[in-house]
Amino acid sequence: MNYSKKTVKDVDVNGKKVLLRCDFNVPMAKDGSGVITDDKRIRAALPTIQYLLDQGAAVIACSHMGKPVATFESYVKKQTEKGKDPASITQEKWKKSLAELSLKPVAARLGELLGKDIIMAADVVGPDAQAKAANLQPGQVLLLENTRFEKGETKNDPALAKAMADMAEVYVSDAFGAVHRAHASTAGVADYLPAVSGFLIQKELDFIGGALANPKRPLVAILGGSKVSSKIGVINNLLEIADTIIIGGGMAYTFSAAQGGTVGDSLLEEDWKDYSLEMIQKAKDKGVKLLLPVDTVIADAFAPDANSKVVNAGEIPEGWQGLDIGPETVKLYCEAVADAGTVIWNGPMGVFEFEKFAAGTKAVAEALSKTSAITIIGGGDSAAAVQQLGYADKMTHISTGGGASLEFMEGKELPGVACLLDA
Ligand code: 3PG
Repeated sequence: MNYSKKTVKDVDVNGKKVLLRCDFNVPMAKDGSGVITDDKRIRAALPTIQYLLDQGAAVIACSHMGKPVATFESYVKKQTEKGKDPASITQEKWKKSLAELSLKPVAARLGELLGKDIIMAADVVGPDAQAKAANLQPGQVLLLENTRFEKGETKNDPALAKAMADMAEVYVSDAFGAVHRAHASTAGVADYLPAVSGFLIQKELDFIGGALANPKRPLVAILGGSKVSSKIGVINNLLEIADTIIIGGGMAYTFSAAQGGTVGDSLLEEDWKDYSLEMIQKAKDKGVKLLLPVDTVIADAFAPDANSKVVNAGEIPEGWQGLDIGPETVKLYCEAVADAGTVIWNGPMGVFEFEKFAAGTKAVAEALSKTSAITIIGGGDSAAAVQQLGYADKMTHISTGGGASLEFMEGKELPGVACLLDA
């Protein structure tokens, strides 16, 4: 796939209406108060928005938020599937579920960060959005409602894509977190407007794409997280590219069991044991160093205050489960990172949310903060870990995309990038 795409700098936006797809899918407080708990993704969109405004554009920003159910009919179906009593499924509840996924709190935060009022539309392509877009002046920002309130969004409905495109003259995508989705606002709309990337997408393509296509070697990939099954594509692709692959997190126990180890009550994907052995063999054949834990911190329960001890990998007794890599493994992994040219990290080494089992993830984050290597952190859990542990500003690049950065590292085509004009 060609990642060399035209950018906002390659189009004249002066006096034009620009439809800007952002990823404003930010975490919100669980109490429904509309409080944004991490505004990183809003901040990440500011350079492109400010640039467009400085160039004299009128910005029509849009984004999805969460996974709303766009029609009452589908809401009833989903709730019924979940086993809810049909009498308890009401229009009011459906509307409340939508209201909780409104972009209004994003408009407020974006306004604070930009230092200007944001005009909020009550819909995506309905009468309010149409009227506000028609009257929008250069230097103003309009934010459309959650694109997934339209049922055509996730289906990449051409009629919705065209209706969005009709409000603007240029399409800019800066929604890196959503480029793995072929939706109306992330891909379909590019059929109807000149489509270019914003600065955030450019940055992500430069760092992640650069590390994959032309890495400063040795390239060390650290892969963690709970499931082998969710990392197959990444392991496969990185076995073609990396010099060293480090495995940690819950998925290490499937590798351990596959090699004949006992893993007690640890996370285990029986069906993926053969695959794990294949990967070990593939690494040997390709001359890639594959590092697996040599020891592990085990606990007698999945709880922050569980009893814990360190045992050799593959020697976990019944009634115990592995929740972190052990101290010998930490040493081994930190050494591998120390002389790296590039490090890509995706997935924590243990249950870092529990202080007692955060040491492995913390040590790896610290090692990354000290190495002179280019350090690239995939979004999602690894980005959260690096942030929570206080190492965020020591990394070369922390991706704003979870699923998107994963699919990028899998070597898959990203529809939200493929649809943009080639440079
Ligand atoms: C994300 O949070 O990874 C992106 O915003 C994409 O969200 P989605 O998984 O709901 O498409």
